[in-house]
Amino acid sequence: AAENGIDAWLRYAPIPEANSFKDFVPSTIVVLNDSQISPVYTAGQELQQGINSILGQRCQVAYEGSDDSSIIVGTVEAYASTGGSIDGLQELIADGYYISTSAGGVLILGENERGALYGAFAFLETLATGNLSAGSYASNPDAPVRWVNQWDNMRDGGTHGSVERGYGGKSIFFWDGQYARLLASIGINGIVINNVNANETTINDTNIEGVARVADAFRPYGIQIGLSLYFSSPANLSHLDTFDPLNEEVIAWWNNKTTQIYSHIPDFAGYLVKANSEGQPGPLTYNRTLAEGANLFARALQPHGGTVMFRAFVYDSKTLNQTTNWKADRANAAVEFFDGLDGKFEDNVVIQIKYGPIDFQVREPVSPLFTHLENTATSIELQITQEYLGQQAHLVYLPPMWRELLDFDLRVDSQPTPLTSILNGSRFGTKRAGGYAGVVNVGTNTTWLGSHLAMSNLYAFGKTAWYGASAPSPSEIIDTWTRLTFSHDPTVISTINALSLASWPTYENYTGNLGLQTLTDILLGHYGPNPASQDGNPWGQWTRADGNSIGMDRTVSNGTGFAGQYPTEVAEMYERIETTPDELMLWFHHVGYTQKLHSGKTVLQHIYDAHYEGAAMAQTFPVQWEGLKGLVDEERYEHVLYRLRYQAGHSLVWRDSICNFYFNKSGIADELGRVGNY
Ligand code: GCU
Repeated sequence: AAENGIDAWLRYAPIPEANSFKDFVPSTIVVLNDSQISPVYTAGQELQQGINSILGQRCQVAYEGSDDSSIIVGTVEAYASTGGSIDGLQELIADGYYISTSAGGVLILGENERGALYGAFAFLETLATGNLSAGSYASNPDAPVRWVNQWDNMRDGGTHGSVERGYGGKSIFFWDGQYARLLASIGINGIVINNVNANETTINDTNIEGVARVADAFRPYGIQIGLSLYFSSPANLSHLDTFDPLNEEVIAWWNNKTTQIYSHIPDFAGYLVKANSEGQPGPLTYNRTLAEGANLFARALQPHGGTVMFRAFVYDSKTLNQTTNWKADRANAAVEFFDGLDGKFEDNVVIQIKYGPIDFQVREPVSPLFTHLENTATSIELQITQEYLGQQAHLVYLPPMWRELLDFDLRVDSQPTPLTSILNGSRFGTKRAGGYAGVVNVGTNTTWLGSHLAMSNLYAFGKTAWYGASAPSPSEIIDTWTRLTFSHDPTVISTINALSLASWPTYENYTGNLGLQTLTDILLGHYGPNPASQDGNPWGQWTRADGNSIGMDRTVSNGTGFAGQYPTEVAEMYERIETTPDELMLWFHHVGYTQKLHSGKTVLQHIYDAHYEGAAMAQTFPVQWEGLKGLVDEERYEHVLYRLRYQAGHSLVWRDSICNFYFNKSGIADELGRVGNY
């Protein structure tokens, strides 16, 4: 049963419809590439294995010929060169694929080799979910950047490396796993394999050789490897006493280092850079701009075709003083630091921006920086590892949150501007499109993330990045995932659907409401409740709660001015209490505890009610799951039940600590008599 975890959604369990599908699935697979490092070759292996497992049908694999009564998989180009007809084929872009299924045979063609592999996985998915039917269709990715980030602390070395904010065990890069296969099956084409908090040893000679071996393991799956860099590496690894990005010797050092990396990894994807953030060195150390810093790497990568993902998570905690400055605001930092830099980045720079202006909270508005970079490619950084969201010990299905962010209309120049249209380059006609980065942080736990149910977030991330605005709904995604991962049984599907869709609102209810952010312990691990830890420190995740009032005044008229970083229509909406949605009220406004919300409740009563509702809902989670006894295998049944019971208990701890904290601050009791001195 451990394999149930490792295979995740690629279990290829036998399906009830197997017999009726056999007509559609010939028993010869013709693979138009016999090189074992080609994703096309991998596609052939995967088809053979999947069909055998799902239908109980053994297929033989051939590497030449194009017998129409077989399953043919390859690139469009290879197929055409065998004399295959590509008339009427819908237009494909890089990584796209075309599938045609008929009683006579199956054709799976990719625009490139990776696309052929994606096509094979898509075919197997329709088979495994019982949805195979005759017909043809093409699928193209919405955005070129579909990367994951793995915050692996390579520097720990040995057999048990650690992973920053990883809740699924130790480093997988010292372990023979199948991570590349999982990622390729959801359309991921790049992985940055080390922690954004890198150090210089990442790119020393020994590590580069090790990274090359990791690249070898990912290559047959069409996944390119990237590395996070430490900005001051030249000063740490060489005789140089500077890392100034404009210094000739520093430039030469990075050029050489990059050439060295490409000599080991010819298809190296590029660099991810965290600079001038949380005490890290960067271009600002030398009074150079962030663009000058990013371009240093961009130019080193250009001759090799690589990309720089330059992170927008730039802020200086030392300058943030809550008590002396009402206008101080960490949320302002990114737009301020990038001010005036749009258009100054080399074409192979993508600015990687966390979804919200602070840090992966349960509720944040979309980062306004996306609207300030009309001439620069951007990608959104989402977190699959649930750092502030319960660390996989709590069930939080994230796609409903992602959808709200991605579909949010930023109204640039008063024109429709959903965030997806910025990421895929369509809105600004950006020279290059960006896309999606997901921080995953899997580990050696056989469930990858430490929890079977948490893996739906990784699966959904891939689908979200591939389809952009036209992705299946969060409800459809979870149903497909459940069919692949657990069962086709309607009770299993509806139960996991109900649990998953309830989970984000539930978690928000018993943690932090109204845009207050997740009220975790800011200093200790970002896990349990500690609302007091938010304020009075330079980390800037403040709530400014006092005896009478609460919330961050981010208005232009009286506050930090953050609301003014949005395009006019959105800025006006957030500027006024009357037009700010309740769920972000305390993100944008500092108000009395008795301030009325649009819902008619007071702020404090909302906080009390939400905590009781959220915790009450969490109590139902294990009970709902118990309805699946006997319908899912015992091991996964028990594993999930254990976690849901724990979550139910922990939600009570959350409820009581948050409610008591605000009662003690405000002295205002709960109208329903649950919180107060009775
Ligand atoms: C968060 C997280 C850190 C991480 C940082 C980043 O603050 O807690 O572990 O390094 O984000 O994204 O750079």
